[in-house]
Amino acid sequence: MPSLVVVGTQWGDEGKGKYVDLLSERMQVVVRYGGGHNAGHTVVVGEDKFVLHIIPSGILHPGVVCVIGNGCVVDPDAFLAEIEKLGKQGIQVGDNLLLSDRAQLILSYHRLQEAREEERLGARRIGTTCRGIGPAYEDKIGRRGLRVGDLRHPDFMRQKLDYLVREKTEALGIPEQAAKLRASIDETLKRFRDVALPHVTDTSLFIYRAMEAGKDVLFEGAQATLLDIDHGTYPFVTSSHPTAGGAATGSGISPKALDFILGITKAYITRVGAGPLPTEMTEPLGETIREKGAEYGASTGRPRRCGWFDSVVVRYAKRINGLDALAITKLDVLDSLDEIKICTHYDYRGERIDEFPGEISILAECEPVYETLPGWKVATEGTSRLEALPENARKYIARLETLCGSPVAMISTGPARSATILDMDTRSLSGLERWLPRH
Ligand code: IMP
Repeated sequence: MPSLVVVGTQWGDEGKGKYVDLLSERMQVVVRYGGGHNAGHTVVVGEDKFVLHIIPSGILHPGVVCVIGNGCVVDPDAFLAEIEKLGKQGIQVGDNLLLSDRAQLILSYHRLQEAREEERLGARRIGTTCRGIGPAYEDKIGRRGLRVGDLRHPDFMRQKLDYLVREKTEALGIPEQAAKLRASIDETLKRFRDVALPHVTDTSLFIYRAMEAGKDVLFEGAQATLLDIDHGTYPFVTSSHPTAGGAATGSGISPKALDFILGITKAYITRVGAGPLPTEMTEPLGETIREKGAEYGASTGRPRRCGWFDSVVVRYAKRINGLDALAITKLDVLDSLDEIKICTHYDYRGERIDEFPGEISILAECEPVYETLPGWKVATEGTSRLEALPENARKYIARLETLCGSPVAMISTGPARSATILDMDTRSLSGLERWLPRH
């Protein structure tokens, strides 16, 4: 039962979509195990660019069955819009998509709740994607959420919505809008039910049987380690478990069934939304990287904050996720720099800190300590062989491996599938070769 988990090791937007797409070529099943349409996984195929939000990135490969697992939150409108958009781009969604009967629904009152909460927080706001993700997970944990499987029980759903819409509109101070809100939710759910129900099943059982039959399964993480509700920079986090452990609970399979855990790591670091980012670059350098790396949110279009590679963060991600290897992205974005910094550890009030702190009040006071490596000043975009990389770029990668304590199995040098270095010495990484694309 060979399985691979792909997780983000930083604050998201590492380029997971590209690797999931590449590694899906030889998979039979690809499972999203958490989050919702707050994710924006970009895949470039030839001239075409696809941005997947809730549908797994494996959908671009014929023959792959994609699963939206029980750990996900699904916005019916966003789900329908994504299927329609994919159809216009020539990707048909049919038997190749399964949706867990246990996934939670995001409804319009969740978005209203979130907008209200962010407004209330003012300067202390989280800077969420405003997709209703947090409030939907709150309802799940509060045991009042609606699940996809409830679509099969219209009476139950109607009764629950009677109560929920009344409660939500009262809490929001808009009780007079209850009837209108309810009508629009009913209309959305009707459209969703027609399209979604044929995809709805017990996906935990489906994955279990697929694994039993020896099929290859990829678990596609969304968001990232430092956005994890427990292990991230709380409260500046998302409301789910993007870390590798979430792959088990978010898809209903045993943790023993997770074989290889691959951490996706940008060659520098970015963050969108509020919260500490110790290695944040000062301007105008941050702006240069943002423009060269097109660092704007794939879901919200917001500019991302850019920083130097932080090995404290990735070492932490290695420990929390049990990473077997790293896959680097966007190395080419650093091509023009004279010098490149890597944060080796932090200084907190004169004390050396090697382990990522649990409290953001401490993190906010941590000063990154850097070592500086010479840049390579040669264009690497599109490079697909390790020996074609300039020596200084190889030294940079080797240093990241040492500082993070994890081998680098792949390097991406551009958005295209072909712009990927796969001829790394992966012999020590027994298991991963099985899924490497042959190009
Ligand atoms: P939420 O997931 O919309 O609740 O947002 C919570 C935090 O996670 C905010 O800082 C978002 O910017 C961040 N976030 C959520 N999804 C992503 C993502 O896919 N990439 C990067 N950041 C994300």
